[in-house]
Parts: sequence; C-alpha cells; structure tokens
Amino acid sequence: MPPEAAREEIEELRREIRRHDFLYHAEGRPEISDGAYDLLFDRLKALEAAHPELITPDSPTQRVGAEPRDDLPTVRHTAPMLSLDSTQSPEEVTRFDARVRKAVEGDQVEYVLEPKLDGVSIELVYLEGRLDRAVTRGNGWEGEGVTENVRTIPSVPLRLFEDGAWIPELLAVRGEVLMTLSAFEGLNQSLLEEGAEPYANPRNATSGAIRQLDSAITARRPLECLAYDILEIQGASFRRDTERIDALKGWGFRIPERIEVARMVEEIFAYHAAFHRERDELDYEIDGVVVKLNDLDQRTDLGSTSRHPRWALAYKFEPRKEVTRIERIAVQVGRTGVLTPVALLRPVEVGGVTVSRATLHNREELERKDVREGDRVRVQRAGDVIPQVVEVVPEPDRDRPLPFRMPERCPNCDAPVAVSGPYTLCPNRFGCPAQLKGRVVHFASRNGLDIEGLGSETAGLLVERGLVAEPADLFELSVEDLLPLPGFAVRSAENLVAAIEQRRSTELRRFLFGLGIPEVGVAVARDLALHFRTLDALMAASREDLQVVPGIGPKMAERIEEFLGDSQTAGAIDRLVGRMFELSVPEAEGKGGALEGQRFVFTGTLESMSRSRAKRLVESVGARVTSAVSGETDLVVAGEGAGAKLRKAQELGVDVLDEEGFLALLAQAEVEL
Ligand code: IVH
Repeated sequence: MPPEAAREEIEELRREIRRHDFLYHAEGRPEISDGAYDLLFDRLKALEAAHPELITPDSPTQRVGAEPRDDLPTVRHTAPMLSLDSTQSPEEVTRFDARVRKAVEGDQVEYVLEPKLDGVSIELVYLEGRLDRAVTRGNGWEGEGVTENVRTIPSVPLRLFEDGAWIPELLAVRGEVLMTLSAFEGLNQSLLEEGAEPYANPRNATSGAIRQLDSAITARRPLECLAYDILEIQGASFRRDTERIDALKGWGFRIPERIEVARMVEEIFAYHAAFHRERDELDYEIDGVVVKLNDLDQRTDLGSTSRHPRWALAYKFEPRKEVTRIERIAVQVGRTGVLTPVALLRPVEVGGVTVSRATLHNREELERKDVREGDRVRVQRAGDVIPQVVEVVPEPDRDRPLPFRMPERCPNCDAPVAVSGPYTLCPNRFGCPAQLKGRVVHFASRNGLDIEGLGSETAGLLVERGLVAEPADLFELSVEDLLPLPGFAVRSAENLVAAIEQRRSTELRRFLFGLGIPEVGVAVARDLALHFRTLDALMAASREDLQVVPGIGPKMAERIEEFLGDSQTAGAIDRLVGRMFELSVPEAEGKGGALEGQRFVFTGTLESMSRSRAKRLVESVGARVTSAVSGETDLVVAGEGAGAKLRKAQELGVDVLDEEGFLALLAQAEVEL
C-alpha cells in the first residue's frame, strides 16, 4: 500500500476507534459489537506494524508500552489543586448558601450539583489536544507524574475530539480516577487466588494501581476516569460551569452522572437525599455531593482561601453504618496488660470493606452501650478508622444473655485482674505471655530497634516456645534455636539472627522508645535522649529532673520514674544493656527540627495518609502529638468528620489547619511525604 493511503486509513481508523472508545467507556452506549471493534483495532495494529514511522503516542494502540520505571517523578501542577470545604450538617449548607447570596448581592444564584466521587484526584494536561502528562494531587501544588499509567485508562482520551469543539493550546482537566465496586471485587478475588493481599477498599486499590511503576500492571486494573473541572485553559471564554462540562464532554471525557442545576437550597437537600438513598445501588463509591456556583464570574468574586474555594462545598454523607450480629465477645491482652473487649462479628460489608471485628474499648464503654453476645448491633466505619460498635439494635422478642462481664482472670495467663477506672489490667507483667509478646514486638518495631523480620507472629512463637521471655533474650538467639520453628529455614533463621546482631548498636532514643515506658512515644523518647544523653543519667533522674525536659509534666514524670524505678524493670534493662554495645545520641540530630516543640492534635480523617503516618511525619521534625486539645495546643489538624476537638479548638482560639493546610505546612517544613 502506498504510504499516503496507509496514512489516510490509519487516521480514519484512529478516529473511528476513538469514537467507539468514547461511546463505550464514557457514554456506556456502544454502537458496534466487541468483535467488530477488535477488527478495527487489529487492522490498525497491522497497518502500524507495516508503517512504524506512522505510529504516534496518541494512537489507541499506544496505551500500554512504556518501560517500567524506578520511581515516580514529582511534577508541578498547572494551577493549585485545592480541596473542598466539607460538612455533614444541613445547617452549614444553609449558611453556605446565605454567604454566597450575600456575596453576589442579589444576583441570580445557580448551583451545579454533582456526586462527590470517592476516588483519586488527578490532573490531566493536554497540549495541542494531546495528553501530555497526568499528575496526582499530592500536596496540591505538586504531585506524582503518573502519565504512563493514566494513559492505560480507557476513558482518558489520549487525544481530544475535534468535532464541534475547538482544541485549546493548553487544557488542564481535573478528574477522579476510580474503580467500580464490581471491578474491585473481581480484582480482590484474583489477588486472593494469587495468594496476594486484597485491598481494603476501592480507593486504595485505585491509588495502588495509579502509582504502579510498571504501567502494564495498571493496564490490567479496571480503572475509570471522570472529569469534573477545568484547572486551566488557554483562550477560553466560558461563562458557566455547565458550558465547561459540555465542552469536556465534547472533547471526549467521561463526566459524572446526574449533574443537575439548582437555584434553591431545598433542591440541594433533595439532591443529597436522593443520592444518599441510592448510594448502595451505584456501582461506585460516593461520599457525598458537591455544590458549586455555576457562574464563573461570581466564582472569581467569591475567591478562595489558601485551601478551598468559597464558591463550592462538599455536602458529605454520614459515615456508613451496617447492622450485623455479635457472635462472641473476646478479650485481648496488650503489651501494657490492658484487657480490651473485642466484638467478633458476623462478617458484614461496610462501604466496600468486610468488617469482622470491632473494638468495644473497655468495661465502661461496654456497660454504657450494654452490648452483649448475640446482639444485633450497628457498626460504623468512617474512612479508614477502626470499626466501632455504635449501638445495639433492640430486639424486644429475643432473650438476651446476661451482660458481658470482663473476666476476673487474665485470659492469657490466668492471673487475677486488677481494675483501674474504666480499665481492666493483667498485673502479671513479667509472666503473662501476651504482655511478653507485646513487649518484644514493640521493642523490635520500626520506631524501636527496627529489627527486620521480627513481627507479631515470630514474637508469638519465640515466647510460646520459651526462647524469649524479655527483649534481652533476643540477643542470645542462635540459628539452631530458630530452625525448629514453623516457617523457618536456614536462610531465614540466619537473616533474623543477623538483623538482631546489627542492632546491638543503636540510638538511645530507639532504645527508650522500645522499652515501652508509659507515655513515652517517639517524640518524648527523643527528647529524653537529647536531654540526658546517656541511659545512666536518665536512670538516675528524679521526678524533678524529668520535668526539666520541655513537654514532660508532673504526671508524666511520675509515671516514667515509677516505671524506671521498678526493680524488675531495672533488672530487664540491665540485662539488655549488658548484651548491647552502644546507645548513641547523634550530635546533629533533633535540635532545631522545623516544628520543634510544637504541640499538635489530630482529629477527623485525613484523605492522603493515616493518622499514625501524619503523626510520624510531624514528630520527625520535632513536633509533639497529643490527643486532647488544651490551652497548650499549638495546632489542630482537622480532617474530614472532625467534631468535638475541632469545636474545642475553635472555642480556645487554637489554630486549625485542614488537610490541605497541613500538607502545605509539611511542604514548608520540608518533610518528605
Ligand atoms: S470539585 C476546587 N467535584 O473531592 C474544587 N471535586 O476535596 C475542585 N471530588 O479530592 C474539586 N468528586 O478530587 C469536585 N464532583 C466533584 C468531585 C470532587 C470528588 C474530590 C476532589 C477532592 C475532594 C474534595
């Protein structure tokens, strides 16, 4: 075939295929059969194989093809990707509406209403109509470049449609990548079959798929992309958001379903209620609805705070609750000897996640909620937070068993328990296997000695077989000791022994954290190490000496002194020190961390990271994290669903940051995410 003819046919095929991709993936109304589509696609592939010089990156055949990468590059956004102010309360929505009306001074107010998609936010940049790059939201200013991965998503146009709409020189679109619930279940099923860990929810699965280093893996994950905003466009003159939505559609993007326009606040409530009712019938996760001013000039007038626009609001749903039955109440014994009642549930899906255990906290909580074995209960999961039992669902006709009583003896070592306030404790500190195991795990944990390969399971085995009764025993373990344990072979036994050996020298702060001193987390351990410099100096410190360390109050000092003064503890520490070489305090470290001495409280759920990760990050630059808001708190970070602590902070006039602001602060403090 002459090259000119090939070129023409290739272009024609690409146009056809793009149109069918759009009809299938964005519109859900295919016009041709899969077989007919395959014929077009195969023909295009054959022609391109014969004329490789005609292959372009925006050809439908080129969605997969990039080499695996070593890492994801950091890429700046065309315009900042703000987040939305959010609320669950109708009163807040009314107040938002009133503020907007006041600001536009009697002009018509028109809102665009959309579902709030619970996926991963992404920026897609098109130059001259071709997909140039795709960037995750990251901290709002810059994110990870995931272009090759996003190219594999069938509903992302590689090239904008030209028919009707003109092609802007630059177009930056914001959208949400997500996985349908049915696709998510299918993926988890096959992960389980391969013996791999399933994902906790569709959002995590999406986030994992988007961040793959090998785009061939992303291509096998069933992702979709829905576009809902234009971040930047050159040469545009839109007046309304609805016009932009039409343009996005014209360029070939898939847009959210059931976008509506409203003039009255009541319509917002009706829209929210309707989506809430139908939430469970949708094949994708939404966590609320988004209300946006339609008129773009009015948007400009209202402007944005540093974190979110004043012209939009996310009106979220209450956390999902489901009803299930408690099969049994079990009691767990932790490292510190606290007995925690745990409801073992008939497994139930709560918003895409199977829940089979929920904490019942302590004796008082148990009594307050009057939760008993066999009860029907409502369980709640907000974001990635540990599931909780909210309340008992009354069943008047059922004979309930007697109230659950916390055991009088430790379920693990049979020692008679002690009661302290709402807590039940096993006092057998040095004989209870559950506590021993907990201590060994804590000692070896990431912020402790960071011993690779020593997790909960191995620690359990070591304690059970009588090989380890306290952390010091770890340093006596030999390969021969480990070999008979299930799961160990020569190689793994040698590795563990070597990993332990390596930690005979460590930093004092790790050692102190690893001891599991009450109240001593990462930050306090580091402060103690910096202040006292040697273990001997700390052991000799009085309560008053301890209080000299900033952030250590009388109560904390008392508990630390008590712990270190205990003769059995002191013996265990002696034995440890006898087997270790060095406990060091690096000179350069600690002083002058960017958030040195700042007291943080986290509340609500953060979208971009878990609470514990957020805590680690700020502590790494010297901040201290406490759980209660007080006059001494410097900063409260309020994620989604924040309640009482946020109100308290506002009452006390403590500074509050939302997630966006928090990420900005981390960026400023040069914390690596
Ligand atoms: S508009 C500046 N519309 O919700 C406002 N956001 O913080 C731009 N989201 O992660 C966002 N569905 O990615 C908008 N229909 C929708 C949305 C939506 C989901 C996400 C957004 C962000 C979060 C809000």
